[in-house]
Amino acid sequence: KKVVLAYSGGLDTSTILKWLQDEYNAEVITFTADLGQGEEVEPARTKALACGIKPENIFILDIKEEFVKDYVFPMFRANAIYEGEYLLGTSIARPLIAKKQIEIAHKMGADAVSHGATGKGNDQVRFELGYLGLDSEITVIAPWREWDLNSREKLLAYAKKNGIEIDKKHLDKDGNPAISPYSMDANLLHISYEGLHLENPNNEPEESMWLWTTSPEKAPDQAEYITIGYKNGDPISINGEELSPATLLKKLNDYGNKHGIGRVDIVENRYVGMKARGCYETPGGTIMLKAHRAIESICLDREAAHLKDEMMPKYAKLIYQGYWFSPEREMLQAAIDATQVNVEGTVKLKLYKGSVMVVGRESVNSLYSEAHSTFEEDEVYNQKDAEGFIRLNALRFIIAGQKKRSKK
Ligand code: ARG
Ligand code: SIN
Repeated sequence: KKVVLAYSGGLDTSTILKWLQDEYNAEVITFTADLGQGEEVEPARTKALACGIKPENIFILDIKEEFVKDYVFPMFRANAIYEGEYLLGTSIARPLIAKKQIEIAHKMGADAVSHGATGKGNDQVRFELGYLGLDSEITVIAPWREWDLNSREKLLAYAKKNGIEIDKKHLDKDGNPAISPYSMDANLLHISYEGLHLENPNNEPEESMWLWTTSPEKAPDQAEYITIGYKNGDPISINGEELSPATLLKKLNDYGNKHGIGRVDIVENRYVGMKARGCYETPGGTIMLKAHRAIESICLDREAAHLKDEMMPKYAKLIYQGYWFSPEREMLQAAIDATQVNVEGTVKLKLYKGSVMVVGRESVNSLYSEAHSTFEEDEVYNQKDAEGFIRLNALRFIIAGQKKRSKK
């Protein structure tokens, strides 16, 4: 077997690497993605080499721009939110990782792919629906569903026995398995925390858990204003400066971090059936969502906007459940994108202690007509027209009322 492994270089995927070599006698190809998770990716090379991986079998790719441009931005055109709270930071990254693994497999003549997601979560589904959607012949190896290293202790013992370098965060001062860190996942859009004492949904997370944002209490007392420029429904500039997709999102993350924006603490419904408690920081994404809705509020026709809003929960669910590469997601995307051609202009925002407030919006395509909506005198709207409009809309009430009275 020749296997392309989604490899972070951490303890879990290093153990998987070794296990694939032992259990499957596999030639392993490692793929490490820089998605803007804020950790160095180069150490993965040294670690892979130490496991006997041939240099030509090590792939380390910076895919930040592709991630934001072709995955994050299309999703934000839809204003996607899962269950009213979750901005889908992990969900949207998995399909891209899957796609890259399949590309590498084809290039290298590999017949299998592998990932480090457990058998209890959403990520396994997202990876594997991605793999199979792009290559129906590929063999999938999911070690967490196969091996018996089902506890932290067993995993560490196996790692130790096989000479895998164990980061100090996994050990206590005596070199024994320590309380493991949170289950975390990060990329340019978000960082997630699950597990440990969060598993009791009534426990408040301690302040030190949050790594990406200043706490709103400690955020500056002075509000800060920024403007975001939009074109075709995507953000293209901040304060008039044009930026690439990944650079723009990074910058919004910095603003969000500074002002304590984008923390959520939720219990969500996983695709496999159980509820799970998760905490997320999505600083830039939280700002983007507000801004996008604001620019849409003046650029979109009412009925197009409302129909788009009705489709959104379905679209968000497709992404959460791993159906990025599906005809139904593509169909919804085409409809959403068709509404975005006029979504252009600038939004002014005020950032203050955890909140994002829209304070201005303008567009060359604005459908807002002050002449029509003013409370002052106008020449364009005839108030008398409203009388017939209301009476016809009430016609069925009037008929039903007459019927009710005639039966008394
Ligand atoms: N619950 C979130 C989701 O399903 C986050 C998953 C985080 N994944 C991880 N491997 N830590 O999208
Ligand atoms: C995992 O189980 O690997 C992480 C959590 C999830 O995928 O939902």
